[in-house]
Amino acid sequence: MTKITAAITAVGGYVPQFVLTNKMLEEMVETNDEWITTRTGIKERRVLKKEEGEGSSYLAIKAAKQLIEKKKLDPAEIDLIMVATATPDSMVASTAAFVASEIGAVNAFAYDLLAACSSFLFGMSTAASYIESGRYKKILLIGADKMSSIIDYTDRTTCIIFGDGAGAVLFEPNTEGLGLQDEYLRSDGAGRQFLGMEAGGSLMPATEQTVKDRKHYIFQDGKTVFKFAVSNMADVAERIMKRNNLTDEDVSWLVPHQANKRIIDATANRMGLDHSKVLMNIQRYGNTTSATLPLLLNDYEDQIKKGDNLVFAAFGGGFTWGSIYLKWAYN
Ligand code: UT7
Repeated sequence: MTKITAAITAVGGYVPQFVLTNKMLEEMVETNDEWITTRTGIKERRVLKKEEGEGSSYLAIKAAKQLIEKKKLDPAEIDLIMVATATPDSMVASTAAFVASEIGAVNAFAYDLLAACSSFLFGMSTAASYIESGRYKKILLIGADKMSSIIDYTDRTTCIIFGDGAGAVLFEPNTEGLGLQDEYLRSDGAGRQFLGMEAGGSLMPATEQTVKDRKHYIFQDGKTVFKFAVSNMADVAERIMKRNNLTDEDVSWLVPHQANKRIIDATANRMGLDHSKVLMNIQRYGNTTSATLPLLLNDYEDQIKKGDNLVFAAFGGGFTWGSIYLKWAYN
């Protein structure tokens, strides 16, 4: 019997219209363009303003519709929609279910997936498993985050980093051996003290005091997270290369989570990769959490060729991190 692999067969993406530049941030907090650029690589990020739309679902729907249009896909054929997000529209009700209804995916079931900045990477593993098992044929995986909804724009340690956006990919069965080849996914709960949002969950429900104490915003101990991110992202990417006998020449593209250009550079260096093979758009979007990986695929789609070897790597809150090796399936 021919082996079924799970291939990405279409991509889409969307970032909101409003551009928040480093210069604008200089007016809001004690920072400057030079510091932000040299420490992070970010020049600007997008923010979803109320006048344009609301909630992560707005971004997810835009990205999904772009993919559907490009692929000329009938939404009724989609079996499953997963929305990877750290900023769902609301607690409890599934954002993915709303997205499915809005795009006309009338035959799909839908749910959200949360693993901070690794949500999309972990979602790729889930989607691929469903496809490989033969159970489903068309899975739409969307990474969408309206990070501006949990950013404190008086906190210079976080507001300069994050932005809003969404990206989507379609997974389908492949019998040519293309698609997802291998994965190495990790987590360590001891890391949650260094990156997260204190209140609003079951551990610390919202009260007047939690609002006063600004505990509904994301916090991070940047230095500690940086250290873990640099070593872990490089470790897993190197491990994926080694166990698949991939040399730097064999790797066509590194698709790294966009948290900090210095983390991306360190990962590429450890892999011995020429920097022309590193997908990067952090300068324009900042860190869009669950949307970084699919937004990269969407931006670079024209340059990625059938058969190319892609190594994905991500690191995020939790801690969560990992790497995936995937062969691109179309031109
Ligand atoms: O996607 C999820 C995973 N997240 C990450 O991977 C993020 C990892 N962390 C980072 O990317 C970096 O740690 C940051 C970009 C957040 C910070 O860069 P850093 O080089 O680690 O800076 P730092 O926190 O060590 O701060 C250095 C100095 C401090 O001043 P002193 O104590 O040396 O006088 C900060 O107060 O820079 C100061 N600083 C700033 N200065 C201007 C901190 N934020 C700013 C700012 N503008 N926005």
